[in-house]
Amino acid sequence: MSREKSVHRRTVLRAAAGTGVLLTLSPGLLLTGCDGGVKAVESETLGLDSDEYDVELNLHAMPDSVPILPGAPSEVWRYRAELLKGPQNTVTENPDSYLGPTIRLRHGQTVKIHIHNELPEDTTVHWHGLHVPSDVDGQPRLPIRPGETMTVGFEVLDRAGLFWYHSHAHGKQGGRVGFQSYAGLAGLLIVEDEEEAGLKLPSGDNELLLVLQDRTFAGNNELVYMGGGRGSMMDRMHGFLGDRVLANGAPPTTRKVATRPYRIRVLNGSNARIYKLAWSDGRPVTVIGADGGLLQEPEDRPYAVLAPAQRLDIWVDLSEFQPGDALELISDRFRAGMMSGGMMDGMGMMGSNALPLGSRFPLARLEVAESVEASEPLPAQLGVQRQKIPVNRNTRIRSFELSPVMMRGFAINGRRFDGTNVADDEKVRLGDTEIWEFHNSTPMPHPMHIHGLQFNVVGRRGGNSDSLQQGLVDSGWHDTVLVMPRETVQVAMKFERFDGLYIYHCHNMEHEDAGMMRYFQVQG
Ligand code: C2O
Ligand code: CU
Repeated sequence: MSREKSVHRRTVLRAAAGTGVLLTLSPGLLLTGCDGGVKAVESETLGLDSDEYDVELNLHAMPDSVPILPGAPSEVWRYRAELLKGPQNTVTENPDSYLGPTIRLRHGQTVKIHIHNELPEDTTVHWHGLHVPSDVDGQPRLPIRPGETMTVGFEVLDRAGLFWYHSHAHGKQGGRVGFQSYAGLAGLLIVEDEEEAGLKLPSGDNELLLVLQDRTFAGNNELVYMGGGRGSMMDRMHGFLGDRVLANGAPPTTRKVATRPYRIRVLNGSNARIYKLAWSDGRPVTVIGADGGLLQEPEDRPYAVLAPAQRLDIWVDLSEFQPGDALELISDRFRAGMMSGGMMDGMGMMGSNALPLGSRFPLARLEVAESVEASEPLPAQLGVQRQKIPVNRNTRIRSFELSPVMMRGFAINGRRFDGTNVADDEKVRLGDTEIWEFHNSTPMPHPMHIHGLQFNVVGRRGGNSDSLQQGLVDSGWHDTVLVMPRETVQVAMKFERFDGLYIYHCHNMEHEDAGMMRYFQVQG
């Protein structure tokens, strides 16, 4: 390390210490030495290397300080971007939030991103849900060291949808995804395409983006991650639950709206919390899209479940409202049972969380301020151009058992994260279609995520999801599926275009960080 870099590093650390608690991190370890430890080389572009790109930008991961609650600003880690080339609306900053800029790309664009690590520890940037080459996927095997830059190039191959990007660092002492994402390293990435544009869904001011996260703050507005002692043991087992919910990095607010339809695109960017989205007046939730873009047709649900890392696209028509009326999007009560701290409460073990899993709270308030004449009916057919992955009796089924490991979290087929080591049953062939079957033999739900592709949910059996059952949106395309306690869920996927290493894991970030994550290999 050059002298300059080490000075820089010390300065950052001291600055953090000087402002009190940057974030209360329980093991108190900075990440050093990611698995594999291949060093990022500044000059070369990983992934798609070309002379010409449609879009080029700088993305900085850096410490910052932002006002979140009234009073003192909070110390955060966050992304900032500069657009070097491409359409002006590619990057929209979220200045009053720790959230990274919203990046808007079009299907077919070629993109080059220079990621600058200005943090005091290793990081990576994972483009959650995107079909990109292995080297561009932000995997822990390619860490960006403090003070270094990594350049990645890719073509936008996905169809329109709401994706996101976040840290995926994992070092010798364990994962840092939970900590870094919690500190603020996450942002939205929107892909647009012709099919979606042709549907003329509400856009511009009539498209509301909503990132849901929960956080805990200490007395001077410091973000707190993991309590000490027993609390932190429980956090690790259940996943971290904050004691208040933030929408787009701020306490939920009121939006002035008009008497017309809206499109509400929601990301669950929380470490571990599951939301049960519902309308305050009991009207059905009209779901038009999931992780990988629009459904084939709209679906009305009494409520819709959003597990960590999942996205939902919701359409709501306010045209029969009067100015002065309001409608709230809430997370409704559900029975968390054995799967949350709920059971433990009675045994006096959890106690402290002010907002247990399954509580009811508001997410956004829509206040009708204006009466307009707008007739924009919801199309009966939405995303029909992409066919479901065909499966039949002969499609290979690969089974993964999710099981507890005494005091150490959870395992997948008895294995925990082991760097880039891939077992024989974790090797698949490029071009193959497979069904992956997740069997959850733990008392907790696990949102299982597979990198580099979108899959279809084939079916579920068993499981006790009673108070969430009717809100599990399984149609359409997904990269993350919620597997309820005792449940078996099958998903179908095709390994296309890219060979190499990818990752599958539980997206409860504390489970992931504790090792509920594995590499798999696509063999060309
Ligand atoms: Cu959103 Cu492997 O992660
Ligand atoms: Cu899990």
